[in-house]
Amino acid sequence: MTQNNDKILAAIPSPCFVLEEQLLDRNLAIFERVQKAAPINIMLALKGFSLFHSFPQLRQTLKGASASSLWEARLAAEEFGSEVHVYSPAYREIDIPEILPHASHLTFNSIGQWQQFQAQVAAYKPKKISVGLRINPEYSPVKTALYNPCQPSTRLGVSASQLGDTLPAGIDGFLSHNLCESDSFALEKTIINIEKLFGHLLPQLKWLNFGGGHLMTRQGYDIDHAIEVLKAFHDRHPHLHLIMEPGSAIAWETGFLLGTVLDLIPAKDITNVMLDVSFTAHMPDCLEMPYKPAIRGAHEPTEGEIFYRMGGSSCLAGDFLGDYGFDQPLKIGDRLIFEDMMHYTMVKTSMFNGVVHPSIGTIKKDGEFQLWREFSYADYRSKLG
Ligand SMILES: Cc1ncc(COP(=O)(O)O)c(C=O)c1O
Repeated sequence: MTQNNDKILAAIPSPCFVLEEQLLDRNLAIFERVQKAAPINIMLALKGFSLFHSFPQLRQTLKGASASSLWEARLAAEEFGSEVHVYSPAYREIDIPEILPHASHLTFNSIGQWQQFQAQVAAYKPKKISVGLRINPEYSPVKTALYNPCQPSTRLGVSASQLGDTLPAGIDGFLSHNLCESDSFALEKTIINIEKLFGHLLPQLKWLNFGGGHLMTRQGYDIDHAIEVLKAFHDRHPHLHLIMEPGSAIAWETGFLLGTVLDLIPAKDITNVMLDVSFTAHMPDCLEMPYKPAIRGAHEPTEGEIFYRMGGSSCLAGDFLGDYGFDQPLKIGDRLIFEDMMHYTMVKTSMFNGVVHPSIGTIKKDGEFQLWREFSYADYRSKLG
């Protein structure tokens, strides 16, 4: 996180999501290093971060984009270019003809969906689309059920027992997504399970996509170990083209959400801070994961201090998080910076309650702030009818 100077912060409207190009470069340098040292192509998962104004910067390092729907596929093709890997848990028949022109790779979640669309994909003449199946590696370190794709009776991915000894005709690759903010040791265990459960099928494949959840840009991630694990896997399966499609890791700690204190309401033991941003509408992972985001300049409160509870702008009773302490008492009009708010925020926001949607901007490498988008009543209204 950079300590932005006050002049830049004053130029930013509130509320606003702000990407910092310089911080994105720091992450890209890590992916560059991994791709140089290990036989792997790293792509951006649009579901985690889709601020397309940053795609020219991302494109310099990342080898393509992965999309989970027709609209993401179209955005990837229009704004990212290069390879577009599409995987959806279930395709709508009506979308397939529109997805095909955008996709380089198309991955199915079930054998049934592959059989349903196989003829259509094969008949697509402008280009050959490489087809994959999502597999269930039956291992995930993720403790929160909401984020665990390998939970019992999961609807995500084909199990080894469903596949048996033979690969359905026309399948070139596997996608395995089972991690979330995970380390290199979870990647290693994933590989062990893939080889154990699907090893007999790997010789028939052209590519293997290790999905997302590889948090290589988090401090402490053992990059050398990940490189070692990937190289060793490649040595055992040299014919396989290896891919990863992280989302979080790409936008990890690359920007913030700026908000403003609208009101302060003292309550028993704490002071409620009413903000112009909402956890449920703008930072939903804080409530879903759940986790308490860092606020610039705030600390864990201790006895004797005011315990500030951050309250979102919606009327949802649980739209709050806390508690935080500040060196100086907060005042109405103070601006607060919620750190690390680039991944799974803009892609997930809602206009619940008609709350104002944060603007979107970038602090460029030259230090200037560029505002990309402000939202209006027309955006809210158009979504409703
Ligand atoms: C299939 C697939 N690929 C990639 C990702 C990106 O994961 P992450 O943002 O944790 O890196 C996800 C996230 O849900 C996913 O479902």
